Amino acid sequence: MEGRDRWESRTSFIMAAIGSAVGLGNVWRFPYIAYQGGGGAFLIPYFIALFTAGIPMLILEMGLGQRMQRAAPDAFGSIRPKLRWFGWWAAGLSAGIVIYYSTILSWSWVYLWHSINIDWGSNAEDFFMNQVLQRSEGPGHLGAPIWYLVIGMLLTWALIYLILRKGVKNVSKVVLITVPLPTLLLLILLIRGLTLPGAIEGIKFYLVPNFSKLKEPSIWLMAYGQIFFSLSLASGVMIAYGSFLGKKSEITNSAWITALANCGTSFFAGFAVFSMLGYLAHMQGLPVPDVTTSGTGLAFVAYPTAITKLPALNSIFGIIFFITLLSLGIDSAFALQEAFTTGFYDRWKLSHNRVTLIFVIIAFFISLIFTTSGGYYWFDIVDKWICDFGLVTVGLVQCIIIGYVYDIQEFRRYLNTISEISLGQWWVIALRYITPAVLLIILISNFVNEFRSTYNQYPRWATTLGGWGVLFFFAVLGYLLHRKSTSRL
Ligand code: TRP
Repeated sequence: MEGRDRWESRTSFIMAAIGSAVGLGNVWRFPYIAYQGGGGAFLIPYFIALFTAGIPMLILEMGLGQRMQRAAPDAFGSIRPKLRWFGWWAAGLSAGIVIYYSTILSWSWVYLWHSINIDWGSNAEDFFMNQVLQRSEGPGHLGAPIWYLVIGMLLTWALIYLILRKGVKNVSKVVLITVPLPTLLLLILLIRGLTLPGAIEGIKFYLVPNFSKLKEPSIWLMAYGQIFFSLSLASGVMIAYGSFLGKKSEITNSAWITALANCGTSFFAGFAVFSMLGYLAHMQGLPVPDVTTSGTGLAFVAYPTAITKLPALNSIFGIIFFITLLSLGIDSAFALQEAFTTGFYDRWKLSHNRVTLIFVIIAFFISLIFTTSGGYYWFDIVDKWICDFGLVTVGLVQCIIIGYVYDIQEFRRYLNTISEISLGQWWVIALRYITPAVLLIILISNFVNEFRSTYNQYPRWATTLGGWGVLFFFAVLGYLLHRKSTSRL
């Protein structure tokens, strides 16, 4: 293992882990998922998912990488050679995520431009749906790519290429700005949001639980999917990051810090968005759950609304906000891409530059689908399936592998010899029994519900293709990569 990349210090490991976790998932995805999941009704499953699955799994992934000194495919391969397939599948999902993640970045570039004159005016929702996305009536009406969204995509992929071509050495410097800046900005937007009329209604919707909603299995799936996505779990990254730690490095405390910093940021971003939604409800005379239909695009409606309401310097705040989104997203984007491509250099000794270039070109062309008028729907479907069905399934299998194939008790004792916070039996119980049982139940019940009526009433063929089809594609790709990589061993 000589010559393996190493973190400079423990702080740089934790900063990188937080940098990967904190991303668009906190500022864009969490608020919209919480809104769809019924606000306060959603927070209960969310925190349960954090403590039963998120934190135990983060410890597992960081610990596994550290112990095996290998990224996901080989880390699982060291447990059983056949399991390398599974590591590739997880890494493949991160390729899937980065391809649709770029859509948010492309929208952000376009909004950066519109911030100069605050073009969205008083109706941010109409502006987003009809003027920017030119949204068609359904996934069957695709239309041609819209030129400015294509430019946004081009900028995004070009930037990813330029940064990654030279390796990820600059990442730790970038993170020093991209972690504190959004926090400060969110604080400003939050203060503005809270002082708007109606804000309290929004916050109530966010915080007051609605216990009757807890019966819906879809809310639970969304909560686990969001936890996996937000903590960058089940996509190979935390295993890779752990593998750059030295053999004696501490794990459990670092995992707790990462998880709490990440989920704290999401919780905080929620206040900013929900106070804005309260204001919108107040203006339109509607109840909070009915103010917007923008779903996935919520961030592009709620924050611009608040920005218009700032007393001065609106366009400066608009610009800073979209730069923040871009900087939050771009570092996650290259971590995602690296999670997938690192396996190639490890195994086939290809040049960094070439792999990056090939990936970026292919990914750019695929992502053009999301720049069409119907692209919004495809984006929504792919995001839903990769997170809720893909990441959650990978998480489930990961629990089973570590809980039953690997010796989890021995693994716990190992972690306790190196860690600051000692792991109790709760960790074993969570990973062996609770999490797999819960994940299995919610996966099955959602699977059944999905067959009764499709997500957001999309046509069946669209969810089959964009949802199940995409997941199947990554499973096959993982298998092929596994075959190829073992034949060369
Ligand atoms: N956690 C990231 C976010 O919240 C998204 C993400 C998922 C990710 N898996 C990842 C980022 C792997 C980097 C690497 O936006």
